[in-house]
Amino acid sequence: MEKKKIVLTGERPTGPLHIGHYVGSLKSRVKLQNEGDYDEMYLFAADAQALTDNFDNPKKVRDNIFEVALDNLACGIDPEKVNYFIQSEVPELTELTFYYMNLVTVARLHRNPTVKEEIKLRGFEESIPAGFFTYPVSQTADITAFKATVIPVGDDQLPMIEQAREIVRKFNSIYGETLVEPVAMLPSNENEKRLVGTDGNAKMSKSIGNCIYLKDSAEEIKRKVFAMYTDPNHIRVEDKGQVEGNVVFTYLDTFCKEDSFEKYLPEYKNLDELKDHYRRGGLGDMKIKRFLNDILQEELKPIRERREELAKNPEYVYNVLKEGTKKARAKAKETLEEVKRAMQINYFEDDALLKEVEEKYSLK
Ligand code: TRP
Repeated sequence: MEKKKIVLTGERPTGPLHIGHYVGSLKSRVKLQNEGDYDEMYLFAADAQALTDNFDNPKKVRDNIFEVALDNLACGIDPEKVNYFIQSEVPELTELTFYYMNLVTVARLHRNPTVKEEIKLRGFEESIPAGFFTYPVSQTADITAFKATVIPVGDDQLPMIEQAREIVRKFNSIYGETLVEPVAMLPSNENEKRLVGTDGNAKMSKSIGNCIYLKDSAEEIKRKVFAMYTDPNHIRVEDKGQVEGNVVFTYLDTFCKEDSFEKYLPEYKNLDELKDHYRRGGLGDMKIKRFLNDILQEELKPIRERREELAKNPEYVYNVLKEGTKKARAKAKETLEEVKRAMQINYFEDDALLKEVEEKYSLK
């Protein structure tokens, strides 16, 4: 039998999604969905994972389930094609996590570079919640419960996929071929892998306040673009400017389309020409910011409008999640049964244990 192509991806509902999420994953997941080259596709709100470092703020996680669902649907996720579910509503995942815990050492978890960085970032060094520390194991459950083969993620998630692959191999070698090894699918372009913040910071983060959100109004987008970090030494229009590390150019590299110049800046042919002029001097920041603003407005307007429409119909969004969760649960249940069978903890299935004992004592 040919192996199925099963795509799965999820995100922690800790805030509305920004354009870094958009170029890094939303765009490609919608493209994947529309190309249709898969057997099953899953998307989920990783609320249980979000709680591992937000356990003291459940309201934040709860509220953002809807925000993130609106963002995904507004970007074009089609519930007819994609099974969209809520992680904590699939308790089979928690059960799988517990069994997978046996297959990983504390030392191995300590070596996970993403978890290491997050621990530092959150100041957890002296008191790491065990749930947070072991979330890569829970992530393995998310992936394997659906026999997912392709995981579209940003490069910060590579250690998680590697961890999942290790656990799958270990499980299969001990208990027999049961689980499927996933592969990560990364964005092809560097800027898409990790879009810098509007202030030039390597990470877009809500707490730093350097993000443009998918739900931002036209005015908010404009304000953020005009406040962007450029080249601090490019003070007067005549000054020579630097393109590298200049956020406006990084964003232009990411968002500029073939027809953007023709539409909004016809005096230049392409981005190379614009960059050359900036480097030579004589091109002001206002002009490049106005150009970027036009491009971003065009890209984000239909998403924002769709989002506003969806927000008027929360019952629709609610039912998408409810139906998606029902289907996801059925699949996770199947996998859990296989896992339990493989691990010989399926005692009541077909009275298996009873029959074995009866046989052992020659009662039948
Ligand atoms: N860790 C991911 C994030 O922070 C979310 C996530 C949880 C996930 N489980 C997953 C991503 C399984 C891909 C596959 O965004």
